[in-house]
Amino acid sequence: MRFIGNKERLVDWIYSEIKKNNIAGNLFFDFFSGTSNVGKYFKQRDYQIVSSDLLYFSYVLQKAYIENNNYPAFKNLLPKINIETDKLIADNYDLVIEYLNKINGIEGFIYKNYTPNTENNRKYFIPENGKKIDAIRIEIENWKSQNLINENEYYILLASLIESVPYFSNILGVYAAYKKDWDKRALKPFELKRINLLQSKQKHYVFNINSMELLNKFEYDIIYLDPPYNQRQYAPNYHLLETIAKYDNPKIKGISGMRNYDNQKSAFCNREKALNELEKIVLSKNYKYLLLSYNNEGIMPENEIIKIMEQTGKVTLKEYDYLRFKSNNNGEASKKKFIKEQLYILKRNNEDTHTQKVD
Ligand SMILES: C[S@@+](CC[C@H](N)C(=O)[O-])C[C@H]1O[C@@H](n2cnc3c(N)ncnc32)[C@H](O)[C@@H]1O
Repeated sequence: MRFIGNKERLVDWIYSEIKKNNIAGNLFFDFFSGTSNVGKYFKQRDYQIVSSDLLYFSYVLQKAYIENNNYPAFKNLLPKINIETDKLIADNYDLVIEYLNKINGIEGFIYKNYTPNTENNRKYFIPENGKKIDAIRIEIENWKSQNLINENEYYILLASLIESVPYFSNILGVYAAYKKDWDKRALKPFELKRINLLQSKQKHYVFNINSMELLNKFEYDIIYLDPPYNQRQYAPNYHLLETIAKYDNPKIKGISGMRNYDNQKSAFCNREKALNELEKIVLSKNYKYLLLSYNNEGIMPENEIIKIMEQTGKVTLKEYDYLRFKSNNNGEASKKKFIKEQLYILKRNNEDTHTQKVD
């Protein structure tokens, strides 16, 4: 999924640094989960994962990819639905996806508010696709309330919907605004796609809360931090995915039909607050290693980060030149730009080595 700060292309590098620096351990806390790509990567390498995010749609992805260890059988659902298909079907998951792809559209919340119609002119989806997203979302909820699907199956279907929606959204990358003209991708008929599920033998724990609240809940080997880098809050940029995931008929306002996000604001989008929160994490007791992904354009300055981290152990800073396309506000063509992706590695001293003993 396209997501600001998505670490999909950096996880290999992060993992190689973990190996090079002899960072051992099992329990990995993906503190800022987002797409859950980092958690997925480490789950596949046999770590036990704890993860959380303030965004509910991230929680949906975490439930499906991280917490869930099984392929869905849809045992209760399949006898109740009639699926006619001439497609090559791989398994029960495919059958259910095929069924949902064929249901009739419904003029629901997404159609009414995010497609151009008589009531508004928001162009996030073409009307047919808006109706289809509504119909699929409503059907998934109906199945859950009739106990036709279990919790895992519910989140797998919701995650399939969340992962599919961006392929048909008329946006430039985030949902803070829609495009004036229709993008080619938005004109295609909506198609729900399956997601790749991951199996593992370990039990994983996922949350939809401020991760600061989880600092003392487990004994972590590694806490991995990937905070927002600037003042831009995540919730308004992904408000539509949040609304599709929650489907809670929120009050919305403004040109983009934004939902309220007061309780999803991150302290890491403010320099002073971010440094304070970082210090609380560094001074917390239940971890061996703290890894922080950041970059040289972030709002927390390098020297301050190091000063805070050095309070509890030895800090190593690794850097990686990362090519990024930056669109230019003056309307010129987008420019190539190198930024330095950074990985701060803090190895926490043993409690005994820095606890002063007073006789
Ligand atoms: C840079 S993104 C993480 C990207 C993620 N590593 C990935 O690969 O997709 C930062 C994420 O942190 C979340 N966030 C910010 N502050 C948070 C907090 N205090 N607790 C939990 N999540 C938070 C945001 O909602 C956003 O999803």
